[in-house]
Amino acid sequence: MVKTILITGATDGIGKHLAKKLASEGHQVILHGRNPHKLELALQEVRAVSLRGRVSSYLADFSKL
Ligand SMILES: NC(=O)c1ccc[n+]([C@@H]2O[C@H](COP(=O)([O-])OP(=O)(O)OC[C@H]3O[C@@H](n4cnc5c(N)ncnc54)[C@H](OP(=O)(O)O)[C@@H]3O)[C@@H](O)[C@H]2O)c1
Repeated sequence: MVKTILITGATDGIGKHLAKKLASEGHQVILHGRNPHKLELALQEVRAVSLRGRVSSYLADFSKL
């Protein structure tokens, strides 16, 4: 079953790795990040391995709730 999954901290480390894995399996992935430049780079990287190309992004700094 295809799911829509929001991943916080998806611009680096374990979050980005998870985003690539889930997108490559065909899920719709929403990447969260706080740095616009890093978020755009992560978006391109995840889209490149995505099965269906359903990848979007959401910008927010969680230290300023
Ligand atoms: N239990 C375990 O075995 C295990 C193993 C691995 C990791 N972890 C935990 O998993 C978490 C991620 O680890 P990681 O190695 O992937 O870290 P990382 O490479 O530093 O990535 C952290 C992510 O969180 C984002 N982030 C940090 N502060 C933020 C804020 N104030 N608002 C929004 N986003 C913020 C970073 O964004 P920027 O790119 O903008 O900095 C980045 O995307 C850590 O808490 C780590 O301790 C646990």
